[in-house]
Amino acid sequence: MIPYKHEPFTDFSVEKNKQDYLDALKKVEAELGGDFPLIIGGERITTEEKIESYNPADKSQLIGRVSKASQELAEKAMQEAEKAFKTWKKVKPEIRADVLFKAAAIIRRRKHEFSAILTKEAGKPWNEADADTAEAIDFLEYYGRQMLSMKDGRPVESRPGEYNRYDYIPLGIGIVISPWNFPFAIMAGTTVAAVVTGNTVLLKPASTTPVVAYKFIEVLEEAGLPAGVVNFVPGSGAEVGDYLVDHPKTRFISFTGSRDVGLRINERASVLNKGQVWIKRVIAEMGGKDTIVVDKEADLELAAQSIVKSAFGFSGQKCSACSRVVIVKDVYDQVVERVTELTKELKVGNPVDPTNFMATVIDQNAFNKITEYIEIGKKEGRLVAGGTADDSVGYFVQPTVFVDVDPSARIMKEEIFGPVVAIAKADTFEEAIDIANDTEYGLTGAVITKNRENLEYAREEFHVGNLYFNRGCTGAIVGYQPFGGFNMSGTDSKAGGPDYLTLHMQAKTTSEML
Ligand code: NAD
Ligand code: ALA
Repeated sequence: MIPYKHEPFTDFSVEKNKQDYLDALKKVEAELGGDFPLIIGGERITTEEKIESYNPADKSQLIGRVSKASQELAEKAMQEAEKAFKTWKKVKPEIRADVLFKAAAIIRRRKHEFSAILTKEAGKPWNEADADTAEAIDFLEYYGRQMLSMKDGRPVESRPGEYNRYDYIPLGIGIVISPWNFPFAIMAGTTVAAVVTGNTVLLKPASTTPVVAYKFIEVLEEAGLPAGVVNFVPGSGAEVGDYLVDHPKTRFISFTGSRDVGLRINERASVLNKGQVWIKRVIAEMGGKDTIVVDKEADLELAAQSIVKSAFGFSGQKCSACSRVVIVKDVYDQVVERVTELTKELKVGNPVDPTNFMATVIDQNAFNKITEYIEIGKKEGRLVAGGTADDSVGYFVQPTVFVDVDPSARIMKEEIFGPVVAIAKADTFEEAIDIANDTEYGLTGAVITKNRENLEYAREEFHVGNLYFNRGCTGAIVGYQPFGGFNMSGTDSKAGGPDYLTLHMQAKTTSEML
């Protein structure tokens, strides 16, 4: 087996790659507006009620109409998952891992096609879409290998005359609920982690990006996944989501999304329902209010570039995005000036054009929420870049920078999830770290400094799940920077890390007298 190595990103300055992406966009455009059914026990089921997915950069462009599951259909899917679990749990880990490797190969062959769907359905600029697809491939390759490394359990000691074993067995039926911001990578990663460990799944993707999820299920089928192992049940969070979370046959829930929905799921999952004989396990990866701290002894150009890229990549719609910056007073003015300059240079427009660095936000709700925060920001800080928005054609918000913001301001505390960054000043490095920690979240953070003592101070004191030194705070790579946060950012599951699969299994000890 070739050792795991992450999927390389595409270099779009190479003419052939550029042409291939344009061809993929053409192919995807020609297929827009299709109808997509539910998939339950391998059966395609079309419903009257639909979720309509539109292009956020061109609101009138329909990406696809996806059937919407009712509670009755969710129940049918639960029964199919239960039936499939009886056989899937007995399939050897090697065969389960093979499905993932085959799926990775299929996606690699159709890489730009998948990325082009993301450009259209989620408004991802080329490089962001390409990274999302690469990460989906990485999850398949990494979790497949992880399962192989755990197939014989873990070693334990045996005394003379005794044979002890420590094996992992699957949990049962999992509900996978995924967000729209990594509509391919997170949806695929959370689904296949559950599958490769021998569980069966009901997948409820985000309602703004269901088409890419459907296409992924087709890939799993092509790769040989038996019917009923993954059931595709898009639907309303409140109706189908609650029903499945509450269901007594649900063994675990793997959720990625906002803090409020994560907490709601956690609370509901803790209630014992009639017929339930286990404590449901909840994996919940939630929001962030991620900070870049700039020290006085720092490469200031690196600091400014890292801030701008981490704040405005995919319009700031990453849980890892830099939404606040704390700069030590000695270099505050220089960094602010350079961040302002760089932000003003960013080109915003339709993501089909590769010269645009930034495109839209995901939908009208997001647009309204972000523009409300911009108004709040105008009262809480000094606007130095952006501050305008236009939703006449698509949901475009200009990259926005507020400076001189008080650390206790709302825009320094609340997750905005858009291209808005707030900058505050600190007297000392220690104070900067205190300000960075003064949030209920704890997902990512970065420190820009040449001072070794301060790096070590941050290593101990900066309380986030993913801490980066002398780089931005986005772009964790599967298998290299396992991802997950502290506090209200979630259960710190560390997706793409060596402990992740164990969250989907239970360990069984057997002890035999010889
Ligand atoms: P969201 O919470 O609105 O939705 C996430 C998913 O939950 C969707 O599929 C939605 O349909 C579903 N849902 C909504 N109500 C539900 C309910 N009552 N029961 C069950 N499911 C329900 O989040 P979003 O807007 O899709 O994503 C953005 C959020 O996700 C941000 O807060 C971001 O920080 C977070 N996020 C976190 C991570 C991470 O790894 N920590 C990664 C990506 C996104
Ligand atoms: N894994 C994504 C990142 O690190 C969210 O940016």
